[in-house]
Amino acid sequence: MFVNKKIDDFVGILTIDRPEALNAMNPDVLQEIDKSVNDFIKDEKIGVIILTGKGEKSFIAGADIKIMKQLDHKGALEFGKLGQKITLTIENSPKPIIAAVNGFALGGGCEISLACHLRFASDDAKFAQPEVKLGLIPGWGGTQRLPKIVGKGIATELIIGGHMIDAQEAYRIGLANKVFPSKILLDESVKFAKSIIDNAPNSVAQSLDCINKSYECTLIDGLDMEVNRFSELFATMETTEGLTAFVEKRKANFRS
Ligand code: CAA
Repeated sequence: MFVNKKIDDFVGILTIDRPEALNAMNPDVLQEIDKSVNDFIKDEKIGVIILTGKGEKSFIAGADIKIMKQLDHKGALEFGKLGQKITLTIENSPKPIIAAVNGFALGGGCEISLACHLRFASDDAKFAQPEVKLGLIPGWGGTQRLPKIVGKGIATELIIGGHMIDAQEAYRIGLANKVFPSKILLDESVKFAKSIIDNAPNSVAQSLDCINKSYECTLIDGLDMEVNRFSELFATMETTEGLTAFVEKRKANFRS
């Protein structure tokens, strides 16, 4: 078992558990993450998912380099596609997925965090795309998602430089949404997740999808999609409840 699962009041916590390799990901770890994320997406008792790493030192130290050393071109293509499939599962999840980055987020580990909707970092977290130091390039979406999050110039610097940045720098460039002392990272991530749970689940899902699609279409097409989704919500019980609750001066109840 490489992934531990816990549910705490609508918040699903997935902990990657391979601390002896700093939670580096081999194909078995990847398959387990894929299954666990999909299970949590389907679980009606979960509204927000948190992804973190076991131990105090590492979120995920990347793809397993010892496994990669044995790969040929075909094997590398399969391994790369498996990692990319998981990043897409995470990114396209209708439930928000928060990376609680508790230490090293390197290479594929940084790329998994980039696919998450939010990144909360411990104050001792370290981020890098160090693939060029191994004769590689990022293979799980780093060249595509990092520029969209931090901008082309900074992404280029990080990817061709391969150097590590600390949590404060990650926060400064917009890679980390928030930074917490490491001892309270998970508690604060859960607290934030619970604050999202109170919001309308379909509104949250539609927001995530529209934001994702904004990177794939023209502004005019994106605005068209947004206004259609906005108007379709008016036919849902959830929106009726949200608007009625405001008028009746009470808290909306979206989950009963
Ligand atoms: N793959 C396999 N094993 C790894 C690993 C990785 N990515 N990262 C760490 N480990 C293992 C180490 O081999 C070591 O195990 P052994 O003692 O059995 O050899 C154990 O984890 C502890 O690591 P260290 O002794 O190296 O710990 P450290 O504190 O001295 O250094 C570190 C920590 C700086 C993170 C260092 O381990 C390191 O540089 N790791 C590699 C990070 C990296 O380059 N990641 C990117 C991989 S490429 C990629 O991910 C491609 C992609 O885009 C998909």
